[in-house]
Amino acid sequence: MSVSSAGAQQQTADIDERVAALLAQMTLAEKIGQMTQRNASFGNPVDYLGDRLRSGRLGSILNLADADVVNELQRIAVEESRLGIPLLVGRDVIHGFGTIMPLPIGQAASFNPDVARDGARVAAREAASAGINWTFAPMIDISRDPRWGRIAESYGEDPYLTGVMGAATIEGFQGDDLATPGTIAACAKHFAGYGAAEAGRDYSATYIPENELRNVHLRPFKAAADAGAATFMTSFSDVNGVPATANDFLLRKVLRDEWGYEGFVVSDWDSIRQLQTHGLTENDRESAFQAVTAGVHMEMEGDAYFNHLESLLTDGEIDIAAIDTAVRRILRLKFELGLFDNPYTDRAALPAIGNEDALAIAKRAALESVVMLQNRNAVLPLDAQQLKSVAVIGPLAHRPYEQLGTWVFDGDPTLSVTPLSAIQQFAGTDLTVRYVEAMRNSRSRVGPGFDEAVAAAAASDAALLFLGEESILSGEAHSRADIGLPGDQVELVRRIRETGKPVVAVILAGRPLTLANIIDEVDAILFAWHPGTMGGPAIADLLFGVASPSGKLPATFPRMVGQVPIYYAHGNTGKPPTAETATLIDDIEEGASQTSVGNVAYHLDAGFKPLFPFGYGLSYTEFRYDNIALSANGIEPGDRVVISADVTNAGEIAAEEVVQLYVRDLAGSITRPVRELKGFRRVGLAPGQTVRIEFELHTDDLAFYGRNMQLAAEPGSFHVWIGGSSEADLQASFRIDKSR
Ligand code: NOJ
Repeated sequence: MSVSSAGAQQQTADIDERVAALLAQMTLAEKIGQMTQRNASFGNPVDYLGDRLRSGRLGSILNLADADVVNELQRIAVEESRLGIPLLVGRDVIHGFGTIMPLPIGQAASFNPDVARDGARVAAREAASAGINWTFAPMIDISRDPRWGRIAESYGEDPYLTGVMGAATIEGFQGDDLATPGTIAACAKHFAGYGAAEAGRDYSATYIPENELRNVHLRPFKAAADAGAATFMTSFSDVNGVPATANDFLLRKVLRDEWGYEGFVVSDWDSIRQLQTHGLTENDRESAFQAVTAGVHMEMEGDAYFNHLESLLTDGEIDIAAIDTAVRRILRLKFELGLFDNPYTDRAALPAIGNEDALAIAKRAALESVVMLQNRNAVLPLDAQQLKSVAVIGPLAHRPYEQLGTWVFDGDPTLSVTPLSAIQQFAGTDLTVRYVEAMRNSRSRVGPGFDEAVAAAAASDAALLFLGEESILSGEAHSRADIGLPGDQVELVRRIRETGKPVVAVILAGRPLTLANIIDEVDAILFAWHPGTMGGPAIADLLFGVASPSGKLPATFPRMVGQVPIYYAHGNTGKPPTAETATLIDDIEEGASQTSVGNVAYHLDAGFKPLFPFGYGLSYTEFRYDNIALSANGIEPGDRVVISADVTNAGEIAAEEVVQLYVRDLAGSITRPVRELKGFRRVGLAPGQTVRIEFELHTDDLAFYGRNMQLAAEPGSFHVWIGGSSEADLQASFRIDKSR
């Protein structure tokens, strides 16, 4: 055993001892108090929470981000309550605190766990300076429906990518030791299946077969548990008929018994009482019973536990063990955070919000998250030497708040550098920048601004359109049924197109949008998500070629919303479509006697392909992939295989590429996806440079829950691909043979 792990074990043993000693002194009322969390966001919480704290009947608060008030509440808890137990102070610190990083979906587009880790580290320090010691992040719900507003908060559609990014985020928030100032506890949410909401309507029911639940939705949560996420949060939604907050299959069977998870589980906001609204229970008492027996340890906002746990216990309906387990876990986190030794926030000891380091990290994150979807005739990068003027047009060119995205309670828009400001700064005096907002917001209709915008574009050498959705159009409860560009943005694009000038669309949005109706009207598209505080400078660097785009799509972009759900890791079906078999509506001959066209899995009007596939993203250079090779053609269970290929920068610009590894298990006890991402690496290559990239796969990496619901890699043939998107075509094969 290493010295550090011996030290960690001793620390755990010490904490367990302190927890046990404290628990032994607690009354039932105090224990139940620890299991409750209240909102502290209105007025002065000292007034309405003070007495509850003094009586030792509150374990946690949320939504307070003021170090002085938090310190006062901690002082009351520690000095004026019988046992002096400090508070957990929770807050949604989702993609930054004061300094805002790109949305999680944007961070996922970087395919770079360092982006997530560094961003979370900055967020943790800034949040800690406001008295916060627990964040409700990362959200690692698999999101295969861009209508769902919370796709913005997710790492997209893929379980492996989500697991890697989620784990890195947890490491960034929590650091190596939660007691270190500037670290905060993480919360993996929403356990589980929340992203599968019917029709992408937030909070709607989810129906997920158990294999799918385990192979897709639970995988990132297992990665989060393995990464040491201090807490888990339940989901609001109904999962196969049992809302997640009472789902004993998820909370007891999987999380507690199979995974041995030792952190605590918090409900979502009032989701215990909502069990009645769902139609699972008849009253709050039953709801408290179902949640506590399933394994929810703390109730977020709502008093079902506070009001009913005591009588449930005295009436013999629940066992004290359920309460003790919850309290033990909650107290353990408070000890781990060092709150018993120092509950107070010393703002001066932590770095200032929005400092240089934080801004540099935010800029790098934004740079790596932007995905170039199109670049006809190499219109990008713009040549600042040759251009005399550019028109900057659109409702999202100069909106300090809107570039931050959803969930930025504490985001400071005065720190934002907008694309317009950054372009103006880049242009200096040599390049004229004509700015026309054209639309008041993304939803505006045709107005006088359109003519001004056309005039500006006509007078300039290039038109840069800043389009998309504002922050308010994605996020919790902000789902859309039509995910096209809102308002009359498409009309604006068409009119600018008519000027004949090169048109570049920079799109800021919280979700994949359907862009088929502008794709032929613009020369280039940079998809920037909501890029955060430093979005402007990152976009300007990409536009003018200071850096090359390197983001890749973490979610499939459909052509039209009717294709949803559409994702790369789908089943093959018994009738897979091909370009030859999928006859499109316009190609059907009139009066054709045939009664069917194609007989394959596709849409007559949309075909079978998305507009842009998962993993896709262009660069200013071209990358070539050759010479795929395997260390073995056959391996046995428990073995590893190394898959390698040459990646060459075949262009004239140094750039970074995200090299991706995909696998297909050709036959299984249940059918397997046509491709699954199993590895990725971001590499920087000089012009002409070739590197050999190796990925190592253990047979455990190929394991899945098969027909008998056991996790195992099944013997048989596999295809592997290495390339720059989920449509990579450099392929090889190997087998897993039965062990001899
Ligand atoms: C509800 C959201 O679903 C959850 O993600 C969030 O952490 C809580 N509210 C607290 O704001």
